Amino acid sequence: MITVANRLQTVEEYYFSKKLREVNALKVSGKPIINLGIGSPDLMPPQTVVDAITESFKYPNVHQYQSYQGLPELREAMCSFYKTQFHVDANPASEILPLMGSKEGILHISMAFLNPGDEVLIPNPGYPTYASVTKLVEAKAVTYDLDEANGWLPDLKALEQTDLSKVKVMWVNYPHMPTGANATETLYEELVAFAKRNHILIVNDNPYSFVLNDNPRSILSVPGAKDVCVELNSLSKTFNMAGWRVGMVLGNATHISAILKVKSNMDSGMFYGIQKGAIEALKSTDQWFKNLNAAYQKRRDLVWKLADLLGCTYDKTTSGLFVWSKLPEGVDAEAFIDKILYDNSIFITPGIIFGTQGKGYIRFSLCASEAELQESINRIKN
Ligand SMILES: Cc1ncc(COP(=O)(O)O)c(C=O)c1O
Repeated sequence: MITVANRLQTVEEYYFSKKLREVNALKVSGKPIINLGIGSPDLMPPQTVVDAITESFKYPNVHQYQSYQGLPELREAMCSFYKTQFHVDANPASEILPLMGSKEGILHISMAFLNPGDEVLIPNPGYPTYASVTKLVEAKAVTYDLDEANGWLPDLKALEQTDLSKVKVMWVNYPHMPTGANATETLYEELVAFAKRNHILIVNDNPYSFVLNDNPRSILSVPGAKDVCVELNSLSKTFNMAGWRVGMVLGNATHISAILKVKSNMDSGMFYGIQKGAIEALKSTDQWFKNLNAAYQKRRDLVWKLADLLGCTYDKTTSGLFVWSKLPEGVDAEAFIDKILYDNSIFITPGIIFGTQGKGYIRFSLCASEAELQESINRIKN
């Protein structure tokens, strides 16, 4: 038996990879499972996107390797999207890199900037991939607590009282997953100043900016942010294209070329038709965002009803694809969600998988149809 690398001892299989096997086994055994666990958009992407990939098969070069940096038209479309939506200027030749989803970027950025032993600030609660990738590259994950009382925003003053001398990278993610909290006007400015004072690279992971959010923001809109920040974004949630695997990272040319150095050694370009589809998605008008959010608003109203029935509390001002809810005092979230899974065939995510600060919370996904949500309500009522 060949032993696995030591780094694998530092991480566990991803929660959903394990739990969805259990959920699928229940489904195969005939249970009418409704999955409110995972944030995988079930709505259709724009029709123009589907037409573009279909059309792409007519071209002779479609099956060949593609550029490591993506098609120039794709980089231009991404930069003009950032200009229109966030008023951020980026040079398409050097300040953007298309990615196969923003998740891929988490590994590439970590490989580009972290040495073994470097420290990385990670939000608690937060997306579990930040910590697992940090461990895979043999850096040290140092969590910073977010809590409800502080609007789930980092306490930078408290952080600055700690020893930050070994910290190289800080992960920030607003609109925040799992809580849905939004960054305030001043938070990004404060983060940029904090990064400059402490020589830290801030990575803002921004894939939820267009879901149920009236005020999409980019950290790169702060003057001077590019000196110390890069930002990840993605088409997964904005255009219902999670399975297409299209994301992007923006930053200054030096940071982007370091990330390209990693990426160009890992894959050999994004499928041509996917790039053509992504270009069409990025051209979407305001109507796209209005329709998308109208659909999610209706779903969220139903999820709020479901949460009420389960005795949970929640904040109605949040953004993103989830409803983050507090359980009644003293209720164990994992036992609670297992009871609902086995008694009512509804799968909900326990907050603890996002870190200790998620204890006592559960997360409902809005990636289920209104009919499924109504059915969930009926099952709980009965
Ligand atoms: C906070 C956060 N970042 C990144 C991702 C990865 O998204 P993608 O790789 O599809 O762009 C997710 C996916 O759920 C997420 O919740």
